[in-house]
Amino acid sequence: MKKILVTGATGQIGSELTIALRSRYGDENVLATDKRPALNELTQSGSFCLLDVRDVSAINQVVEDNNIDTIFHLAALLSAVAEQKPQQAWDVNMNGLLNALEASRKHRCALFFPSSIAAFGTETPPMDTPQDTIQRPTTIYGITKVSGELLCDYYYHRFGVDARGLRYPGLISSSTLPGGGTTDYAVDIFYAAIKSQHYECFLRADTQLDMMYMPDAIDAAIHLMTAGSQQLKHRNAFNVTAMSFTPQQLAAEIQKHIPEFTITYSIDPLRQAIADSWPRHMNDSAARTEWGWQAQFDLPAMVKDMLEKITLK
Ligand code: NAD
Ligand code: SER
Repeated sequence: MKKILVTGATGQIGSELTIALRSRYGDENVLATDKRPALNELTQSGSFCLLDVRDVSAINQVVEDNNIDTIFHLAALLSAVAEQKPQQAWDVNMNGLLNALEASRKHRCALFFPSSIAAFGTETPPMDTPQDTIQRPTTIYGITKVSGELLCDYYYHRFGVDARGLRYPGLISSSTLPGGGTTDYAVDIFYAAIKSQHYECFLRADTQLDMMYMPDAIDAAIHLMTAGSQQLKHRNAFNVTAMSFTPQQLAAEIQKHIPEFTITYSIDPLRQAIADSWPRHMNDSAARTEWGWQAQFDLPAMVKDMLEKITLK
């Protein structure tokens, strides 16, 4: 990776991944892009330009003008937002990915594509979810994710594009707010705990989902993209997880630091139905075996770090 393009760079993952890539590969070698303007940190540490991933000629131009060799393609609509705007979600998530893959094919770039636990569905085994298993998602977001996984594999086998990817669980970050997903409660809860010692959760108390702290998510993306090609049997759509918990268990962990913290539940039927269609705990042994994936943060370590960082804001 010498010249890197990040799409969707102002989002939850992109705002931290861009900074991590810049500190590793040089500020001048990582171009951040998004369809919306960036805030200070992204523009102060390196270049930023507006780029709508649905515009194939604009992507090609940016890749060509900047001699890009690697694309971290993050631009997408997340699960809850996608369900409100399914046609737009298909357009951004699928045509945006197709355009990024086409630019990668033409300009010989490697490409990173983040899939999700949403790529599974109600027919998938929910516990110890295998790497290779049935995938029949019922949300438009999940349908774009499983289609994206297949498209990345197709571009690798058909055109030799070095497309790699992960199935991320819900991501928790102290720096940027999430962009409209079903797992957003696991970030919102920390701000509420610090501000008002109370949180009203939109998922049921017993909704168990895989989660990961952002520093691990960033490491996983960079680690996978720098792994030797011969090591990879799967290459794309690796299951990765770090912890798996329910809102009730997360609240109990927060109470160890803020004993007066309370949680109540006011269920959002849309997001509850989405969460109920996702697995509870993925098996990520393929990632561990093929490229040495290992998370650093478990639930207690993540909660401690989140509370410290958000309190300092
Ligand atoms: P986010 O919503 O925070 O950021 C997405 C970014 O894409 C936003 O900055 C948005 O402005 C941008 N965008 C939307 N439409 C665009 C377009 N047409 N052109 C260019 N940019 C556009 O999402 P995130 O959490 O940073 O997720 C990034 C990727 O990781 C997505 O593909 C998402 O599906 C995937 N992912 C995220 C999670 C998670 O928990 N955050 C979990 C699994 C997978
Ligand atoms: N965290 C994401 C969401 O809830 C999962 O991809 O949409």
